[in-house]
Amino acid sequence: MTTAQPLDVQPTPLALLLLGREADPRSERGVECPGDLPSPSDPDLVARARAAKEKLGDKVFVLGHHYQRDEVIQFADVTGDSFKLARDAAARPEAEYIVFCGVHFMAESADILTTDDQKVVLPDLAAGCSMADMATAEQVAECWDVLADAGITDVTVPVSYMNSSADIKAFTGKHGGTICTSSNAKRALDWAFEQGEKVLFLPDQHLGRNTAVREMGMSLEDCVVYNPHKPNGGLTAEQLRAAKMILWRGHCSVHGRFSLESVEDVRARIPGVNVLVHPECKHEVVAAADHVGSTEYIIKTLEAAPAGSKWAIGTELNLVRRVANAHPDKEVVFLDRTVCFCSTMNRIDLPHLVWALESLAEGKLVNRIQVDRETESFAKLALERMLALP
Ligand code: 13P
Ligand code: SF4
Repeated sequence: MTTAQPLDVQPTPLALLLLGREADPRSERGVECPGDLPSPSDPDLVARARAAKEKLGDKVFVLGHHYQRDEVIQFADVTGDSFKLARDAAARPEAEYIVFCGVHFMAESADILTTDDQKVVLPDLAAGCSMADMATAEQVAECWDVLADAGITDVTVPVSYMNSSADIKAFTGKHGGTICTSSNAKRALDWAFEQGEKVLFLPDQHLGRNTAVREMGMSLEDCVVYNPHKPNGGLTAEQLRAAKMILWRGHCSVHGRFSLESVEDVRARIPGVNVLVHPECKHEVVAAADHVGSTEYIIKTLEAAPAGSKWAIGTELNLVRRVANAHPDKEVVFLDRTVCFCSTMNRIDLPHLVWALESLAEGKLVNRIQVDRETESFAKLALERMLALP
């Protein structure tokens, strides 16, 4: 028999710092929230969120991405993937406050697409996205110089995934490109290849490669990967000139965990299982899956599936659990054996939501996400090109 020993670990001052209350100098964005967050153990949090939301009435519109926790998603006026939420935010000009339960780049996109009088609030400023952070404005400007040296900027159209900062969206708009999401990437690439001969796809190499190869008939050799940490992206001018798709070396740390072994393992464990994965997964995972699509597609596919069917889903765990609970007549399992939450999506919790809603109800605007005017105008161009895609 073993007995649990107290851990001999001295907490660091930062470990004691309650997320969302103070500035963390080591965090890229900082996590300052002036005022007091309610305690997570407060049994009245649900009632407090409900009361603050009622007090705000039509002044507030709460958006919830599919990867949000159950405790948060129950307060969303609409739920959706990043494409649907961008549209929903744009279609609510009467709401003074848009509370975005999602991550930083989504809140930025909502700010860009809403009117100047509307204020977008992200309940925890530390809710970033590791993939979006893999492409900075400086790195992308440098990449464009490398493409210019190779003589290909005139024929290259940037296509940026929604999961990118407002700066990258602005770069895209300025250089004649469009934004795409996981539900319209093929349409965006079709459009881009009507405008030019090559695409610079930012920042998710997997969505770019999967769309080009699975949906557009390109080969893996048509794609090269630009590594911002290597001189000239690690590519020769000849390689850049020969490529059709120049993929940025970025990825999602959540979807990157799924492997070919996870697919083979689940097929062995559950005979007849349908493997359904998000296109942010690696190419070999997507190639081995039966169905591929955005979060919205995953939900709709499960709704249409017959009772008794078996599903292994490769996307974030909050969504998979909700889908499984919504369909007790179907067998729904998580594709990997280890859990796979998106840690930054999970930063938005009930204490932060209550704090944001109560602050707004008291007339205090907190955690506003505001994109500067110049960035906004070019980013909007790129987003509007996406919204106008056929
Ligand atoms: P979608 O909601 O567009 O499918 O994207 C998934 C995702 O990773 C969002 O961060
Ligand atoms: Fe970013 Fe991946 Fe999390 Fe989506 S799931 S917010 S892409 S880290």
